[in-house]
Amino acid sequence: MIKIDKITEQLKKRLNEKDDDRYLHSLRTVEMAERIVLKNKIDIDLEKVKLTALIHDYCKNVSKDEFLKIIKKYNLDLDFYKKTNFKIWHALLAPYIIEAELGINDEEILNAVKYHTTGYKEMSDLDFIIYLADLTEDERPYPEASLLRALAYQDYKKAAVLTCYYQMQVLEKMKLEIHPYTLGMYNSYKYLLKEDNLENLVKVKDILEGIKLQNIKIYDVRGSTPLYDYAIVATASSSRQMQAVPLHLKKEASFGIRGVEGPGDSSWVLIDLNSIIVHVFSKDQRELYALDQIWEDLPKSLEKEVK
Ligand SMILES: [Fe+2]
Ligand SMILES: [Fe+2]
Repeated sequence: MIKIDKITEQLKKRLNEKDDDRYLHSLRTVEMAERIVLKNKIDIDLEKVKLTALIHDYCKNVSKDEFLKIIKKYNLDLDFYKKTNFKIWHALLAPYIIEAELGINDEEILNAVKYHTTGYKEMSDLDFIIYLADLTEDERPYPEASLLRALAYQDYKKAAVLTCYYQMQVLEKMKLEIHPYTLGMYNSYKYLLKEDNLENLVKVKDILEGIKLQNIKIYDVRGSTPLYDYAIVATASSSRQMQAVPLHLKKEASFGIRGVEGPGDSSWVLIDLNSIIVHVFSKDQRELYALDQIWEDLPKSLEKEVK
């Protein structure tokens, strides 16, 4: 029988009492994982999900030396790990340490911990939940987090694949290599993005980024308006840039534009893409309209429903 108190104590020790943030992140991941399960009504052992979320970063502060000893002890392929960003070692090598120290030998738990950073080409429900909960817990600050969190409550697999897509974009921008496991996950499950309008959403965001709009935020507005599924808000730094938005969307997107509105000056333009609405503002006007504030609260109201 696994004793949760003992595990928590060990976890704190492993994460180092001073690394309070990491422990709190683990607790937030547990909360997020629980919400994902309840909201999606996933038929899974909730206690097992919570335990996995709690220990997913058990090896986050393990030193390289200690990992090298594990690689040697278990006769693992050192070249494979050398080619892998050290940040991922805490996930891939965790099963060995967790099994030895916590006595957990459940394959499903160990695999979900192993793949929580990279994903994998074949993922169980538990793998999906832990991967997504880790990257969308409440304090994750990146721009798409609020959209992904909202989506996570409605379709966790889709949300996980979209998260994977954003992760790959970040790595590409930072000129870091994308792990083969991550590519495997994306290639196996990207078909899920073809449903709904997620593929279009990704395309629109790419186009807006291509013309260098700033502070691009995507919101899931299905809960607040029947007219659109998603709203994108972005800032243009000049009138020319703003006027270029409809032209570029018309030219590069394969889907139709239902309408374009705006005063024709540099303050704002609104592009209606059927299920997606794009609002581009000057910096001042964006603050004035404060759409971000309205929509940022949406995922929170979804959370309340769960409790
Ligand atoms: Fe991690
Ligand atoms: Fe984590």
